[in-house]
Amino acid sequence: MNDIIIKTQEQIDGIRKSGHLAAQALDYAEQFVEAGVSTGFIDDKIEEFILKNNAIPATKGYNGYPKSSCISINEVVCHGIPSQETVLKEGDILNIDVTTILNGFYGDTSRMFTVGEISPTAEKLINVTKHCLDLGIKQVVPGNHFGNIGFAIHRFAKANGFSVVYEFCGHGVGIDFHEEPQVDHAARKNSGPKMKPGMIFTIEPMINQGRPGTRIDKKDGWTARSVDNKLSAQFEHTILVTETGSEVLTDIHDDYSIT
Ligand code: MF3
Ligand code: CO
Ligand code: CO
Repeated sequence: MNDIIIKTQEQIDGIRKSGHLAAQALDYAEQFVEAGVSTGFIDDKIEEFILKNNAIPATKGYNGYPKSSCISINEVVCHGIPSQETVLKEGDILNIDVTTILNGFYGDTSRMFTVGEISPTAEKLINVTKHCLDLGIKQVVPGNHFGNIGFAIHRFAKANGFSVVYEFCGHGVGIDFHEEPQVDHAARKNSGPKMKPGMIFTIEPMINQGRPGTRIDKKDGWTARSVDNKLSAQFEHTILVTETGSEVLTDIHDDYSIT
């Protein structure tokens, strides 16, 4: 494929700044995550933070999406719409997904949060999902096939008794919200295009406790839930292919080394 954008150094620097801001918005949101708080309130705080930092929440108005983040609780796989009526309770697990536009550049990241004591299964699902993302990131090297990201993720999720959501994917990102290529989280070994230095894309595996299928809420047209209403978890980073490996552009904690 030749329609995957190779970013210039200036674009890379802009996308890194935006990515760092999106990650900071998640850290800022953490203090508000507790039982009794609505996801609408958390979204308001995230929006305030993004605007105060001279950026725009990319989701607001995107294909009619109404809010500044996606907050997906328990069986919600992705695209949960924050609302004053959705109140967090003890034992909940939730993903908060933030995409910022800073000086025209997009940064996209999400991670899991927990409310009080969670079940051992929920904890295992979260840990396995984070490890799936990390295994995907390890596959980011020039010359490697995009399919090997999904191959590594699927193998590990399956070995742990979980399933990989195949109806939502990672994506090229940076100049636009969703660019080529589509980054599958379950794929055949050595399938798909090859990675080249300067490509930037997300890896954002959604891992289900039960069956892999999802259903979109008929009323709001966005909220995707697992078909069996079992738990789902997700982590997302924006990643640059370097000359020799990768840089995680949404890593503000030095969780990953630049390779
Ligand atoms: N941030 C999500 C992603 O990782 C996209 C959300 S689109 C929305 O691709 F419209 F649902 F907000
Ligand atoms: Co994304
Ligand atoms: Co996202």
